[in-house]
Formats: sequence, C-alpha cells, structure tokens
Amino acid sequence: MSSIMGQPTELAWQVDKVQFFILLVMAFCFVACNAVLIYFMLRYRRKSPDQEVSTVAGNHVLEIVWTAIPTVVCFIIFYYGIVVWTDLRTPPEDAMEINVTGQKWSWAYEYADGRTVATDLYVPQGEAVRLVMKSVDVIHSFYIPEFRVKEDVVPSYYTNVWFKAEKPGSYNIFCAEYCGIEHSGMLGKLHVLTPEEWEAWQKEAEALKAMPPHERGKNLFSSRGCAGCHSIDGSSGIGPSIKGLYGSAEELANGSTVQVDENYLSTSILRPNAQIVAGYQPNQMPAFEGQLKEQDISDLIAYIKTLK
Ligand code: CUA
Repeated sequence: MSSIMGQPTELAWQVDKVQFFILLVMAFCFVACNAVLIYFMLRYRRKSPDQEVSTVAGNHVLEIVWTAIPTVVCFIIFYYGIVVWTDLRTPPEDAMEINVTGQKWSWAYEYADGRTVATDLYVPQGEAVRLVMKSVDVIHSFYIPEFRVKEDVVPSYYTNVWFKAEKPGSYNIFCAEYCGIEHSGMLGKLHVLTPEEWEAWQKEAEALKAMPPHERGKNLFSSRGCAGCHSIDGSSGIGPSIKGLYGSAEELANGSTVQVDENYLSTSILRPNAQIVAGYQPNQMPAFEGQLKEQDISDLIAYIKTLK
C-alpha cells in the first residue's frame, strides 16, 4: 500500500509521479534562471553614467550546452511519460470486463453475467477491471479523477480504460465532455467493494435472477430513475403516472386514443416520443432503445400491471 502513497490505484501514483517530476524540473529551472538573472543584474549593473558597456558577440560552447541539456531533459520527460502512458493503455489480459454505455445523460453498466446497473458502478478491490465503452448518442467522456483515467465515449466506436482499485471506497465518476444541457448532471459513483462486500453483491445478483418478474421490474423502475417522473399513486409528474395505466385508454397529444397494452408500454419505454400522452411534453424522457434488454422491458411491464 505504501508503494502507492495512499492513492486508490498504483497507476494514479505513477501518473502523479510523472507530474511531480515535471513540476520539479520546471521549479528548478525557474529558480535557477531567476537566481542567475538577479545575480547578473547586481553584478554587472552600470555603476556610473560614463561606464563603457562591454559587447559580447556570442559563445558557441555556451549555446551548445544550453541547447543540449534541455533537449536531454525533454527526452527524459518524454520517455518517463510514455512508459506510464503505455501502462495506462495496456490492461492485464485477465482483467474483468464491464460494458459501459454513455447516454444523454447517464451511465449504464453491464457485467459479463448479464447483470446491469445504472449510474453507480461496483467493482471488486484488487482486481483489474477493463471498461469497454460506447455511446448511443453524442460524445461523452468517462472520467474518474482520483484514478487519473479519462477516455472519450463515442458513438459507433469502442474505447476502453482500465484500472485496479486497491482502496475500498466510493469515487466520483464524471462526464468530461460537454454533451448537452444536462452534461453537468451526468454523474455517478464508483464503489470499490472489499472481497466480502463483493461476495454479498454477487449473491444479491443471484437472488435477483430468482425473483418474480414484477419484483425485478419494481427494482428496475427505481434503479433506472423512472420513479423521478412517473408516480405510482396516480399523481401527475413530468410524465404520466403508471398507476392503473395498463388496460386504460390514453388520449394522445395528436388527438387519437390508444389502448394501453404490452406494445404501447414497450414502445413508450424504447421510443418515448412515438406516442405522447395529451397534456405532456415530448423530449422529456431518454429513449431506452439499446439500453434495456427484452427481459428488462417485460419485467417493467409486469410491474406496471401490478399497479391497478
Ligand atoms: Cu455526457 Cu457530458
């Protein structure tokens, strides 16, 4: 642990060391140059108005020295930087893979066993994790400041970052690419779990698989943030309440009426703008197309059916 100087990952400390090294070199140059400048100002200042000024045409030896030394220092900085950068870009082969999806304006994660979580990411302590990332809309940037990892998340192209968290705890996840009005709210937490916590979390995943569909749907409804806009008690929010929704007849903004069945619900989750209910605004809800699996949608529908 001491080799990482209290940092959450070894690489974070490696990156910091490069920064400190550059800072140290720059600080030395700054102090040295200014010391010489001040010394020369005092030592060679004009002492009387009629003092003759000496003229120096040049000094080849000096010029070679002050070109060669900084060049060597620059190459040392470059070499040191590229060694650490290569480590940052080269995940270990046995790294655990997690898929990351960036979407206006949230993060979603999918584990190898098919488990999905949104906003917050959970990883085991001391295990290398590789995030395979893509965006479904615009360019985002996945950023964990404390781990010193940041990478653009772009549509139709996979990018990746990796890290090995040594210290359990919670760390901020930011979007570091201006991606629209809610960019500043595109936040999340990375939770690094101890082996025991990770074990418990895995067990929870098993329990979730054995749950009846409407229970899973209920969990999704809160974990995916649906509850923020859709009430379950019949009161009106940014979106219509889901209480008593299934089987009812909804009047749409275009004047037509639709019978709420599985297809209407599925379409409204995947492409919310397709059928806007009268009295509500379009473009309020993110499209979940490509975000939810078939199973998730049928679980959500099962949950909505229970709210009579
Ligand atoms: Cu996504 Cu900023």
